Amino acid sequence: MTDSKKNAESSGKTIDVLLEEGRTFAPAKDFVKQANFSDPALYKEAGKDSVAFWEKCASKLDWFQKWNKALEWKAPDAKWFIGGKLNASYNCVDRHIKNGLRNKAALIWEGEPGDKRTMTYWDLYREVNKFANGLKSLGIKKGDRVAIYLPMIPELAVAMLACSRIGAVHSVVFAGFSPEALKDRINDMEANLLITADGGYRRGGVIPLKNDADIALSDTPSIKHVIVVNRGGFKTDMKDGRDHWYHELVDAAEAFCEPEHMDSEDMLFTLYTSGTTGKPKGIVHTTGGYMTGAYTTTKYVFDLKDDDVYWCTADIGWVTGHTYIVYGPLSNGATVVMYEGAPDWPDKSRFWKIVEDYGVTIFYTAPTAIRAFMRWGVEYPAKHDLSTLRLLGTVGEPINPEAWMWYHKNIGGEKCPIVDTWWQTETGCILITPLPGITTTKPGSATVPFPGIEADILDEAGNSIKVGGGFLVITKPWPSMIRTIYGDHDRYYETYWKKYNGKYYFTGDGAKRDEDGFFWLLGRVDDVINVAGHRLSTMEIESALVDHPDVAESAAVGVNHEIKGQSIKAFVTLKDGVEPGDGMEKKLKAHVVKMIGAIARPESIIFSAELPKTRSGKIMRRLLKDIAEGRVLGDTSTLADPNVVEALKEKYEED
Ligand code: WTA
Repeated sequence: MTDSKKNAESSGKTIDVLLEEGRTFAPAKDFVKQANFSDPALYKEAGKDSVAFWEKCASKLDWFQKWNKALEWKAPDAKWFIGGKLNASYNCVDRHIKNGLRNKAALIWEGEPGDKRTMTYWDLYREVNKFANGLKSLGIKKGDRVAIYLPMIPELAVAMLACSRIGAVHSVVFAGFSPEALKDRINDMEANLLITADGGYRRGGVIPLKNDADIALSDTPSIKHVIVVNRGGFKTDMKDGRDHWYHELVDAAEAFCEPEHMDSEDMLFTLYTSGTTGKPKGIVHTTGGYMTGAYTTTKYVFDLKDDDVYWCTADIGWVTGHTYIVYGPLSNGATVVMYEGAPDWPDKSRFWKIVEDYGVTIFYTAPTAIRAFMRWGVEYPAKHDLSTLRLLGTVGEPINPEAWMWYHKNIGGEKCPIVDTWWQTETGCILITPLPGITTTKPGSATVPFPGIEADILDEAGNSIKVGGGFLVITKPWPSMIRTIYGDHDRYYETYWKKYNGKYYFTGDGAKRDEDGFFWLLGRVDDVINVAGHRLSTMEIESALVDHPDVAESAAVGVNHEIKGQSIKAFVTLKDGVEPGDGMEKKLKAHVVKMIGAIARPESIIFSAELPKTRSGKIMRRLLKDIAEGRVLGDTSTLADPNVVEALKEKYEED
């Protein structure tokens, strides 16, 4: 019996499943020969002096002024490249106009109905400059906050770059979020301006973004102006003096806008993400460090070359789209494919048609999508020529070995390396990942920390676990790390640093290390649910439920789901005198969608007169999870009233 098998038998179920997959995949010789990086000594060198390594990476960006100190670290506060001045949009467009890439395709975009647009670096440069001037004409300046609520259209990338050009802080809100969610985010960051569109296409329908935005805007006093992109000529009311058409602003604008010389530590953007408490938090990223992480990891992890056609299928509304559609690939001068719509529209081979049509070479997607492709069947990818692909990636959740193998065989034609990349909104860029020309991969493992990154697995007391499972921490500062939570530095400390007394960054993830030092991610250990690769907090869903006038109390848990990784089950106690009958479940689901968005819709709701609580009144979600997943109940000794849980279990089994 191998050591890993022995280990598997003594450990939990998830780990068993992972370790049964004993196959390893060394990089193919042909791949290694052409790879950007193929010398394992890279890890040792970067490890010896990680600050020097990151300085070398940062020097690949264009700086108006070089930094005079690489790092100042007073945990939990990091400053990188102090005194350095740069501009993110300059690094993504201007420098390519000057270095021979002017006529190269920057964005190859396809709308869901099949409309197409290609923007060269020159086109992008022109558009970003003009839109930056358009923003200025509405009084937007350095330090202002701009909320962006757009579908996946080129103007979304343009808007981000235009903000960064003038030093305005952008905060993209995923277009699938509800007006309520948009309102909360705008108010938290006190945004001065909103950029939206008349609508966007999704599965043949139209998402009425501007109408949704108007609902949010009835209660957002900080917003003075709204810019509306005309995506599809959809009907919308324009409010005089407040609302402006994007194309009219751009048409009227001057062609050149001087890029603001930003301090390395000036804020580049905030992006809201779910944490363990109810309110989503604005993760703050700064300019020099974030750009260094984005630029470097894109080049190393995806082995990016000048003639690649790179496609990351994420929505720019999430961090993956920020770093690996916009800032990473564009700062590298890559050709980026961007698609507006759903993977199964008009049929389930849409993605593979796109790969064939544009000759995509690098393809980066989420395990959830891969599991859906698996279920749909191999006939869809088989209909298309995928031979241009040379590298595949995954992100967002643990990938089960079965899905990894399916991806390897049916999409990668057994010739493409797969990079399983672990990271977070907070980390800014990929931190645990194979390097495709160096690392021998194991299906299901994100393998090892990126050069210059140090990660560890700790037990509750902070002891390092060399082989086995525990909490994943990052032990040294890195350039693209979160700097704070917008407007709440204490919460920043509480959430990420307090667990290990300010010594290590706590990721909130569980992980296991095997005998080879490889990391296997095991999912969240806090109250965050990862549904189809999207983070939601149990508290966020619970607050949405109790916002409904009929609900007294609620608890939400994430349970295993074949395709989505996890799905949401909610337990609800209704107010006295309210009966669960008559479409109550439907009503409450709709209420959650209204408050947060469709991604948060509970799969099912279980009504119960009481919820299991500890004697101090804390709802025991762990027990609810056991019930929802049909497991033998865990420790019930701390329950105030053990009968509650038994009754609930019986009820659940009946349902
Ligand atoms: C999870 C997405 C396993 C993890 C980039 C993390 C992963 C959370 C992986 C961050 C992976 C991300 N393997 N789990 N390769 N990548 N995760 O902020 O739980 O939306 O903490 O960033 O996704 O989600 P976020």
